[in-house]
Amino acid sequence: MCAYLLGVIMSLFKKETTFNSLPEHIAIIMDGNGRWAKKRSLPRSAGHVAGSKKFKEIARYCNKIGLHYLTVYAFSTENWKRPKEEVDNIMNLLREYLKDAKNFKEENICLKFIGDREPLDEDIKLLIDDVEEESKNATGLKLNIALNYGGRDEIVNAVRKIVKSGISADCITDETISQNLYTAGMPDPDFIIRPSGEYRLSNYLIWQSAYAEYWFSDILWPDFKTKHLDMAIEDFNKRNRRYGGI
Ligand code: IPE
Ligand code: IPE
Ligand code: MG
Repeated sequence: MCAYLLGVIMSLFKKETTFNSLPEHIAIIMDGNGRWAKKRSLPRSAGHVAGSKKFKEIARYCNKIGLHYLTVYAFSTENWKRPKEEVDNIMNLLREYLKDAKNFKEENICLKFIGDREPLDEDIKLLIDDVEEESKNATGLKLNIALNYGGRDEIVNAVRKIVKSGISADCITDETISQNLYTAGMPDPDFIIRPSGEYRLSNYLIWQSAYAEYWFSDILWPDFKTKHLDMAIEDFNKRNRRYGGI
């Protein structure tokens, strides 16, 4: 109780975090839910519940600090390999989140889903359409949720669209590819954060991340705090981005 009150009092006096500059587009691989649960002898589903809460907290924080784009990896094209029970747990959490649409209306967050919607349950597809429609004029954070998303799948789809459009091979440029990805019209992520101690992209934004900066950490996603995001952004601001120049 005392510690709680002290925390409340301290938060009242806490200086607002300000940054010299922010990345334009942060992408987060929300990983480590299962291990977080295992450490506490809880079922993996409890890890996903905690991870989902954390996602809402971090998205709200990104909106508050004025970030323009946040793209989170929620479910990959490879995650269907997991036991059906776990996949169902994750999809049910998503349903809950989508039904709680006031989350983003009040917060002025513009929500968009990226990935292949085709295999999703019909009710989820409808909820996604509604939420995207309802939040489309929001002027705050542009929040992309990567769901049934795979970078290779995205590129294959883009190539199919380009070929079907009948464009001549010599006219295809980087831009042609970018404009046919799920992220068409958005800036590429300049900062990719992966907690959980893994040092890989796991098929995330593989085209868009060509010149991104990376920040890896052993923290498991449900333990990730706004102060870790602050640390990551401070680190990003020290990077010297050369894009092949000198
Ligand atoms: C990320 O956490 C959530 C999804 C991939 C859906 P994990 O479930 O991969 O957690 P770990 O990696 O097993 O700890
Ligand atoms: C990446 O995490 C996908 C998401 C966080 C949604 P995984 O846990 O699926 O990645 P791997 O299997 O460790 O590469
Ligand atoms: Mg994982």
